[in-house]
Amino acid sequence: MSKKRKETILVVDDAPGSLEIMADILSPDYDIMVAKSGGKALEIVRSFPGLDLILLDVVMPELDGYATCCLLKSDPRTRNIPIIFVSSQIEAFDVARGLEVGGVDYLTKPVNRLIVRARVKAHLALSLTTRMLTHELGVHQVELELQDKELRRAYKDLEESRASLPQRLILAQEKERSRISQEIHSDFGQSLLALKMFICMSASKLHEDNLQVKSAFEEAKKQLSHIIDKVRKLSHELAPPSLQYIGLVDTIRILTESSRCDKKLKIHFFHRNMNGVTFGTKDIIIFRIVQEAIHNIFKHSEATEAWIKVLCQNSVFSLEIRDNGKGFDPENLSKSRGLGLDLMKEQALLIQGDLSMKSQIGKGTTLNITFPIH
Ligand SMILES: Nc1ncnc2c1ncn2[C@@H]1O[C@H](COP(=O)(O)OP(=O)(O)OP(=O)(O)O)[C@@H](O)[C@H]1O
Ligand SMILES: [Mg+2]
Repeated sequence: MSKKRKETILVVDDAPGSLEIMADILSPDYDIMVAKSGGKALEIVRSFPGLDLILLDVVMPELDGYATCCLLKSDPRTRNIPIIFVSSQIEAFDVARGLEVGGVDYLTKPVNRLIVRARVKAHLALSLTTRMLTHELGVHQVELELQDKELRRAYKDLEESRASLPQRLILAQEKERSRISQEIHSDFGQSLLALKMFICMSASKLHEDNLQVKSAFEEAKKQLSHIIDKVRKLSHELAPPSLQYIGLVDTIRILTESSRCDKKLKIHFFHRNMNGVTFGTKDIIIFRIVQEAIHNIFKHSEATEAWIKVLCQNSVFSLEIRDNGKGFDPENLSKSRGLGLDLMKEQALLIQGDLSMKSQIGKGTTLNITFPIH
């Protein structure tokens, strides 16, 4: 069983008789240290950190009890040691001053043995409880700070993940598009081709005179060819295979050429320093932006001409898509509008690009994207 540590009390008094009386009252229960002046008391307190309580005389030469107390309370190392004043000054004013400067109690001389022991015991217990509570509070504070740190980290992760959600969705969408495109191309497309071959073979076996059935087969062949073309176009729109094989510029060229079937709109395509240039996974994103911009021109602009420019210059890739259509007020877009423009902004973020869109009613629309080439 561990033995309880005896508390240490410092008695400060310039009168040796008073020191003796206090030592006599308290030494059975506590370790006693003595100081005959305020200055000496400060020295002891600073060199002996284990002090539990101080009994401090008020009237002393040079540094009196109040001044000593003020110095002890202003030092963080000593401010928590409880101080009980012991004095023959018994006016209310003196007692109040003692409590004001930081004393926890005030005893008057001549002291009563029982009262001294009871007060000292009570203040030591109070001091111990305060220390324990302060310690517990400190532990809780550290725990709270840790929790706060963790919460902040979790919040930051959540924010980052929320911020990158649209871009992750775009990538997931591209992946899914590519999967569907492959399925349409290989499963559906191949089955249609097999069917077409079967019809061709069956038609070739028909008797020359069977004109009606022959023409029905011809019609079926025509319809099937039409469907096969549509399926191929759909599959290519979902995931243009040409990106991989012929690169970004030629894929954009094919897109503009296939859009030329609309006779009302003339699309001009320019490129510079782009031969054989690829930006890896960014290519599909750039292509999607061009695709959406062209869709928008067809759908909304009523333009007669559009210009697409792509170039690499001074380590910067830039894309400009301009039309001479009716334009729109970007500040005043209808609330029921679609997702195209928002998606383009997210796509630009995904390739670390700067996107700007300028449009004015009656003055057409211009979309610009740039990003640095590493
Ligand atoms: N080139 C353009 N010329 C005129 N108006 C345009 C042009 N591009 C976009 N707009 C206007 O901006 C709006 C928003 O375009 P956005 O692409 O976001 O949506 P949407 O084309 O209406 O629908 P979604 O793209 O989802 O099919 C359009 O509804 C249209 O009013
Ligand atoms: Mg759109």
